[in-house]
Amino acid sequence: MTHCSPASATDSLRRWWADAVGYQVYVRSFADSDNDGVGDLGGVITKLDYLARLGVDFVWITPFYPTPGHDWGYDVADYCNVDPLFGDLATLDRLVAEAHGRDMRIVTDLVPNHTSSDHRWFQAALGNSGAADRERYRDYYIWRDPASGGGPPNNWVGYFGGPAWTLDPDSGQYYLHLFLPSQPDLNWRNPAVAAEWDDVLRFWLDRGVDGFRVDVAGGLVKDEQLRSNPQLQPVPPGASRWEQWDCFEHLHDVFQPESQDVFRRWRTICDGYGAFLHGETYHLDPRGMDALLPADGMHGGYWFAPMHIEWETAEIRTTLRAPTGDLAERLLWAMSSHDMPRAPTRFAPRGVVSSDDRAAQNGWGAARTLAFNVLAAFLPGTLVLYQGEELGLTDGEVAVADKLDPVGPDSDVGAGRDGCRTPMPWGNGPHNGFSDAEPWLRSADRPHIHTVAAQDGAARSWLEAYRELFAVQRAARHDLEAAGANVTWTDGGDGPIISYRRGGLMVAANVGDTASDVPLAVGATLLYDSTTACRHPGATRAAAAAQDGSGGVHSLPPASAAVWRI
Ligand code: GLC
Repeated sequence: MTHCSPASATDSLRRWWADAVGYQVYVRSFADSDNDGVGDLGGVITKLDYLARLGVDFVWITPFYPTPGHDWGYDVADYCNVDPLFGDLATLDRLVAEAHGRDMRIVTDLVPNHTSSDHRWFQAALGNSGAADRERYRDYYIWRDPASGGGPPNNWVGYFGGPAWTLDPDSGQYYLHLFLPSQPDLNWRNPAVAAEWDDVLRFWLDRGVDGFRVDVAGGLVKDEQLRSNPQLQPVPPGASRWEQWDCFEHLHDVFQPESQDVFRRWRTICDGYGAFLHGETYHLDPRGMDALLPADGMHGGYWFAPMHIEWETAEIRTTLRAPTGDLAERLLWAMSSHDMPRAPTRFAPRGVVSSDDRAAQNGWGAARTLAFNVLAAFLPGTLVLYQGEELGLTDGEVAVADKLDPVGPDSDVGAGRDGCRTPMPWGNGPHNGFSDAEPWLRSADRPHIHTVAAQDGAARSWLEAYRELFAVQRAARHDLEAAGANVTWTDGGDGPIISYRRGGLMVAANVGDTASDVPLAVGATLLYDSTTACRHPGATRAAAAAQDGSGGVHSLPPASAAVWRI
C-alpha cells in the first residue's frame, strides 16, 4: 500500500484530481458502525476496501459536524468538531489515515454560507452570551431594520421558498437566511468572519484532509446595499420554491463577484497543502461557470447541467460540449447527489404500468446513466459518483409519513430529496445490511439484486460494469493527461451517436432509441463496451457483429457506450 501525503501532491505538477474518479458519501446513509440507525465515519472506514476496489481516487464526505439536523447536517453548530452521532475527531483522523493507506483521498464539505442558529456565533449575536459577545458577533450575520412600511428589508426569497428574512423579536431586526430560518447567513463582508474561516480550513488541512467541497459557493457575499432583486412576474399563489425563485432576477443575492476574494484566499491556503478546493457552483450556463471559476479562484466546481437534462439527444450533446478550454478541465461531472433524484430515476422512460415494466424501465434508466458516465469519464475534469450509483440504484421508496427532508416535494425534485438519501443496500436481512437498527430515514428494503452482496463479483452486474469502467479509465490516464483539454467531437453534431476523441482514445454512446453504427478507424481496439459490461436491457447481442480492429463500424444498442484505443 502506498501512502499519499499532502507533500506528494504538491510535488506533482499535475493536479491529483485531474481525470480522477470521486465518490460522494452521504454519511448518514452509507454504513452504520454502531447500530444506532445513522451512518457514521466508522462505517465509512469499514467500506474503504469496497471503495478502493471500485477504483475511487477520492471520497467526498457530506457534513459530519455537530448539528441540530434541521437540514440533516448542512446546519453546522461547530465547524471544528465531529457530531457524536458520526464519531469523534479520532475517528476522522483514522478515516483519513486509512484512506491514505489505500491511496485514496478524503474531501470534506465546508458550509460557509450559513451556520446553524445553534452555532455559538449566532447565539452570541442574539445576545444569549452577554453584551460583550453580542457586540463582537452581531456583525457576523446580516441584520437589517424592517422596511419603512414594516416587513422584511427587501424582496429576497429563500432557496427553500418563502422570504429570506426572519424577524428577531428581541431586537426588532430581521436576519438573512437563503435557506431555513435555522440557517442564518454569515456576513462575508466582515473580515472577522473571513479570519475565522481561514482557521477552519487549516484545522482540517492540518489533520490531513485533502480538499473541500464548498457548499453554496455562489452565495457567500451579498450585495453591499442589499438591494431588492428586480421582480420578473408576481409570485403565483401556491408556487413551488423554484417557481418563487424564478419570479426574480437574482442580481443582488447570489453570484456577487466579491465571493472570489474569499476563494482566492482559500486557494492560497489549499495550495500550500496540495488540497483540492472545489465548489457547489450551481450555474447552468457555462459563462456563469467561467465567472465562478477564475484561474486564481477555486480549482474546480460542479457542473449541474447534467442533473437537469432529460434523456434527449440534443440536450445531452449540448451539456457535454458546452464547457470548453480551461473551464472544461475545472469541472466536476456528477449525475446524482443527495439533493436530486438519482439519474436512473430521472432517465427511466416514462409511463410505468406494471411492476415488471418498472423493473425494465429502471434497467433502462441505469443503462442510460452508465452510458452518460462513460462519456463523462474520459472528458477533461473529474467524475464523481454518488453512493449507490455503481449499483444502478433508482430512488428508494419512502412513505409520505416517513419523509424527513425540510424541503417538501416540488416540481423540480419530484418526490423531494428523501428518495435519493435512503440507506445504501449492502446485503440481505433487515435494512439491507446498513444497520441492525431502524434507519434514521425509513424506506422500503431494496430487492436483493440491487445490493452490493448480489452484485459483487457477479458477471455483468452494474457494480462490475463500473469497476471495469474505472479500471479502463485509470489505465488510460497517461493518454488523457497528454491530451489535457483537447477534445475532438467526431459525431458531426447530429444523430443519436455522441462521440469524441481525446488522446489516443475514442468514446461513443448511443443516446437514441434504436441501434446505431459508430464508424471506426482501422486498428481501433475495443477497451470497454457497456452492452457486455452490464446486463444491458437492450443488448440483443447484435453488438457481436462489431468489427473491431478491421475498421468499419461498431453497432451500439440504445443507451450504451463504448471506448476504443485508436
Ligand atoms: C447545499 C446542500 C444541500 C443543503 C443546502 C443548504 O445545496 O447540498 O443539501 O440543503 O446546501 O445548506
